Amino acid sequence: MTNIAVAKGDGIGPEIMDAVISIFEAAGVPLTYEYVDMGKWVFDKGYSNGMTPEAQQRIETLGILFKGPMETPKGKGVKSVNVTARKTWNTYANKRVFQTLHGVDTVFSRAGIPIDITVVRENIEDTYGGIEHMLTHDVALSRRFITRPGSMQVIRYAFEMARKKQARRITCGHKANIMKITDGLFLECFREVALEYPEIQADDVIVDDLCMKLVTRPDLFDVVVLTNLQGDIVSDLCAGLVGGLGFAPSANIGDHICIFEAVHGTAPDITGKNIANPTALLLSGLTMLRHLGLMEHAAIIENALLYTLEAGFRTGDFGDRSKPALDTTAFAQAIIAHFGRIPEHGAKTIMPNKPVTPTIFKLEKNPLIMSLEKEQESIVGVDMFVESAEQPGIVAEKCLRHTLDLFKLVTISNRGTQVWPKGSVFTNLVNQYRCRFESVGDAPLTQTDIIELYKRLSADFKICSTELLNMWGDKKAYSLAQGQ
Ligand code: NAI
Repeated sequence: MTNIAVAKGDGIGPEIMDAVISIFEAAGVPLTYEYVDMGKWVFDKGYSNGMTPEAQQRIETLGILFKGPMETPKGKGVKSVNVTARKTWNTYANKRVFQTLHGVDTVFSRAGIPIDITVVRENIEDTYGGIEHMLTHDVALSRRFITRPGSMQVIRYAFEMARKKQARRITCGHKANIMKITDGLFLECFREVALEYPEIQADDVIVDDLCMKLVTRPDLFDVVVLTNLQGDIVSDLCAGLVGGLGFAPSANIGDHICIFEAVHGTAPDITGKNIANPTALLLSGLTMLRHLGLMEHAAIIENALLYTLEAGFRTGDFGDRSKPALDTTAFAQAIIAHFGRIPEHGAKTIMPNKPVTPTIFKLEKNPLIMSLEKEQESIVGVDMFVESAEQPGIVAEKCLRHTLDLFKLVTISNRGTQVWPKGSVFTNLVNQYRCRFESVGDAPLTQTDIIELYKRLSADFKICSTELLNMWGDKKAYSLAQGQ
């Protein structure tokens, strides 16, 4: 017996979790469940991260969390417990499998186009750090962190998973044509890791093109790996291809702790009515069983689920509306009644269990994931983001007063578009400029030089933000302004 932590969640969470556990128990799945306190009601008791210290301790000991959806209280400045859990425990890969389910009517099932796409989304970084500031009353800034070690973790996981499932193709979705440094880094990591997996066709597609191709030819894709925000959008798009969020399972994979949950939320509009569809949570639970090596149980339950869907059993949110809908409990009972049945389409081979006992990790300190620095680093300039409602020429004049012998002013941009020394009067301005100073000659700058410039400029401007311009060897570690 393996012990796992279970958090039923809010809204429809307890209803669908009870249904899924009843299916597991009826199938004799060798798991025991430790229920832990997490969710909105825990926030309301005063725990700002949405979980009690005991819940956190139990999850960190057991290593597996099976959870229902949880509500994020609105307008209280609190962060989503779902996001907090994924980030705190470094579940760096979000894996979502989208497969044609017979009995779930979609445009593609009607056209006979099979779908079997696995989306792996980076789960920690990107704009999900939620590091945001108002720089002026008009200008908001969000910091988007893409890191080499973080990208490597998720991309390696995606390739390993692709190899195990004998995927024919793995595709990196990105926007490196625009975000050359951040998405460029992610793509560089993808290409690097791809070299170690020559048997898998690895390619990349710009994310907007990817969306178009996914809705026109979803059958051409197999595994798709993306950064966090783009992955969030693309995975919901894929959920739509196979029948909506009621059929979208999700696994959050980390080195120490894994979280299995449905993709949908707490469905407040149908809470308490016992009419929610437990399929997505059940599919997430099946991913968990396979993760724990319980292959036989997973296959028996999945075949029963597919058979039930094919036979036309349904909850109110899908299927043939001319047939009566079952409530959550009755739908779970129909699945249990179909244990041993084999569906016509997509039947899973029954393989013997190979139970995996989760490793108990006792970490003494936070793991630091860092790559080796290869090139010499030097500071060659600084971007000063200043507040000003004046014209670019006036801003330049003020900057030039303070350039010292060490700095030259090379460009001024507004919302990323160059407005000085050249630009167009048709470019609309907002009250914040990015003024780029570079070192005169080849001499590298020091942080003290930058502080001196900062002090001088602050006589004329409110400086909202600064970024160093670094070189790694002969490679610029910063982007150019549009038009520079
Ligand atoms: P939602 O997914 O809860 O609901 C959207 C629509 O889908 C509703 O009409 C709902 O009735 C329906 N629906 C969702 N799951 C269903 C199911 N299993 N069976 C039948 N119908 C289902 O999204 P919404 O309304 O945006 O969010 C509600 C709450 O859930 C919010 O507090 C949000 O923060 C939270 N949430 C939590 C997530 C998680 O725990 N991972 C994920 C998404 C939202």
